Amino acid sequence: MLSVGLMSGTSLDGIDAVLVEIERDSFGLQVTAIASETIPFSLDTKHRIRDAIDLKANAKDLCSLNFELGEVFSKAVNFIIKKGNKTARDISYIASHGQTIWHIGMPESGYYCSTLQLGDSAVIAQMTGIPTISNFRSADIAAGGQGAPLVPYADYLLFHDRHIHRSIHNLGGISNMTILKADGKPSDIIAFDTGPANIMIDEACQLLFNIPFDAAGSIAKSGSIDNALLNEMMSHPYFNEKPPKSTGREMFGALYTKNMIKRYSYLQPRDIIRTFTELVAESIKQAYQKFVLTTLKIDEIIFSGGGTKNDFLLALIAEKMPDMLIKISDAYGIKESDKEAISFAILGYETFHHRPSNVPSATGATKPVILGHIQEV
Ligand SMILES: Nc1ncnc2c1ncn2[C@@H]1O[C@H](COP(=O)(O)OP(=O)(O)O)[C@@H](O)[C@H]1O
Ligand SMILES: [Mg+2]
Repeated sequence: MLSVGLMSGTSLDGIDAVLVEIERDSFGLQVTAIASETIPFSLDTKHRIRDAIDLKANAKDLCSLNFELGEVFSKAVNFIIKKGNKTARDISYIASHGQTIWHIGMPESGYYCSTLQLGDSAVIAQMTGIPTISNFRSADIAAGGQGAPLVPYADYLLFHDRHIHRSIHNLGGISNMTILKADGKPSDIIAFDTGPANIMIDEACQLLFNIPFDAAGSIAKSGSIDNALLNEMMSHPYFNEKPPKSTGREMFGALYTKNMIKRYSYLQPRDIIRTFTELVAESIKQAYQKFVLTTLKIDEIIFSGGGTKNDFLLALIAEKMPDMLIKISDAYGIKESDKEAISFAILGYETFHHRPSNVPSATGATKPVILGHIQEV
């Protein structure tokens, strides 16, 4: 069965589109990426998303952006189908995560636990001619979960092993891990967000250097750690909260980052980038120490996401966890940039067959639920 998975995460770098073939056989799901591409947002669209996330957009803006993104996602789908030499008729469904505008996964005074991803599925279904599954997070929240992380189900199918204790760790805007016990069941999964990955580094690069990200971590490499800034950030209460837990732009986005940069504006810009990069590596190390290694000795970590291109960050992580075997998902046949979109294609596969795919031990939901809405053409 052929499908298209679409993901655009917290980094706003673009839409990851993957044309995926999924077959079920006696060994489980066989998943093959046939074509993939990260398609950048236009500057205008990116600004409108930023305004929405930064609470500068009104209801009319959001209404329009929902349909605008539907159109942008449709173009990504049509592009990837063509790249894979297929036609719309070959594709059974699209699994579209949508662009998260806001996510309230944990109780917050004055607000309902809720989630909002834009990119209307009716627009996608009409513009592509393919049934479209969207709104993957709502059902889990309605069932008492945090609506995140959802990828652990796919991580389990793709990476669980009879003999190896593994962590599947994505370094997108946010850093999140899925712990897969050797010979474990989905109900054994521990999964949570450790905190920021690229999100604060990107924001600082934008503000201080007018560049989108720290390529290969070269700025961080040239800077020094400021201990006052590092200690203040490490004392953020999120890092001590017990899993299940998830975070996003709401906590570590522009507001928090700008505030830190302003308070420590006497530092050299490169030292700020270095310290933000240290925060990522140190908070990851501590997350493993506090919440994982106390109960399970992990054999290897398989990293994915754009953060794997930050060589300096990966080297820091490796240095802080010398006993750990560190790999990139590409070594297992899954391109680091495709992993999240493939994961949503897998979640869509289950939804398409009316099967649940949340992992209650990861989201805190009271029960397994079928994720997402299917919009027919
Ligand atoms: N060459 C690179 N060097 C360092 N970081 C990079 C590089 N390429 C991409 N990145 C980082 O990866 C991020 C995108 O990662 P991605 O996995 O797409 O995150 P998300 O899921 O949040 O969109 C970019 O915003 C940037 O921070
Ligand atoms: Mg991305």
